[in-house]
Amino acid sequence: MTTTNLGDLTVSPIGFGCMALSHVYGGTTDDAARDTLGAAVDAGITFLDTSDVYGEPREGSTGPAGTNEEMLAPFLKDRRDEVQLATKFGITAPREGTDTSSKRTDGRPEYARSACDASLARLGVDTIDLYYHHRPDPDVPIEETVGAMAELVAAGKIRHIGLSEVTSEELHRAHAVHPIAALQSEWSLWSRDVEDRVVPACAELGVGFVPYSPLGRGFLTGTLTKEQVAGDFRGGTTRMGESWDANQKIVDIVAEVARRHDATNAQVALAWLLQRADQMGVSAVPIPGSRKAERALENLGAVDLLLDADDMTQLDAIRTLVEGTRNIVDNPTWISSGRE
Ligand SMILES: NC(=O)c1ccc[n+]([C@@H]2O[C@H](COP(=O)([O-])OP(=O)(O)OC[C@H]3O[C@@H](n4cnc5c(N)ncnc54)[C@H](OP(=O)(O)O)[C@@H]3O)[C@@H](O)[C@H]2O)c1
Repeated sequence: MTTTNLGDLTVSPIGFGCMALSHVYGGTTDDAARDTLGAAVDAGITFLDTSDVYGEPREGSTGPAGTNEEMLAPFLKDRRDEVQLATKFGITAPREGTDTSSKRTDGRPEYARSACDASLARLGVDTIDLYYHHRPDPDVPIEETVGAMAELVAAGKIRHIGLSEVTSEELHRAHAVHPIAALQSEWSLWSRDVEDRVVPACAELGVGFVPYSPLGRGFLTGTLTKEQVAGDFRGGTTRMGESWDANQKIVDIVAEVARRHDATNAQVALAWLLQRADQMGVSAVPIPGSRKAERALENLGAVDLLLDADDMTQLDAIRTLVEGTRNIVDNPTWISSGRE
């Protein structure tokens, strides 16, 4: 199995997004989730991505749910040495006493320290391989947040620092405080705004890129139905709600390329990402998530799929056809392009 470097962290060429193992797109049982993970790791998918905010919150809980991390703990007890473990902090429940009651980010150094200790305890591990700040806090300079994360590296609690949904300017400021191993943001055939500034900044600084929702939250695979997404939050987004029908032409293009290669849509979407990242000079590791072991293995097959120049041109046209925004909350600053 080949490997990819995110900064100085060596990981599998495709990772595994653990969010979809919790309730967000339908969910599954913890035992079934761990079985899927076991099959993925057996096959060589060793880079696991979670967050303290993933999972169903317990009744009455006020902080990040933590239940996706807890689900992982028994798995890590047996297989910690075989995986590279990434988690995140910084998305919170609404914070009292802040200027807006809808504020959902916290980048204060004391919060970074307590969130890290809480994640280590929930995961049952001594160290986190890659610790991300999940969203910049508009009230805390990113230098202060990353300064606190650098102290966590020095203390041996985390090995590498990552950032999610930061702008190129925020990345430069953070990287001046401590090397950033990876930037995680949405990047896929239908979410390409990061190519304007963020991906070039990663290429310039030698920061790895971790594309999240690389399958368009499942849409690009062509296996979802309108009824299925109406049952979860995806049906409330413009792309998969009111623009569902209009966006089917995107799936048709992916399917046409897939047919030519006797591949699946998911493999085409991931192979496109790997090759686009290569063209842009950035080291990238997509983290698709699935509840099904056979799909995780299918996704790994993208590593061996070589798209030609005609395929890349045909797929490139998708960017002009997309209807609706990639932002899932009604706040433009929630994603990096809304602050650029
Ligand atoms: N940093 C951030 O703010 C952020 C935001 C979102 C996500 N993430 C991370 O990125 C990871 C992936 O993102 P995501 O789960 O939103 O989207 P995704 O990976 O683009 O899509 C996941 C969906 O695709 C389906 N799927 C996966 N492989 C498939 C295949 N081969 N064929 C058909 N369907 C397939 C899954 O359904 P089944 O389970 O039914 O197979 C699931 O519903 C998350 O787990 C999380 O770790 C980070």
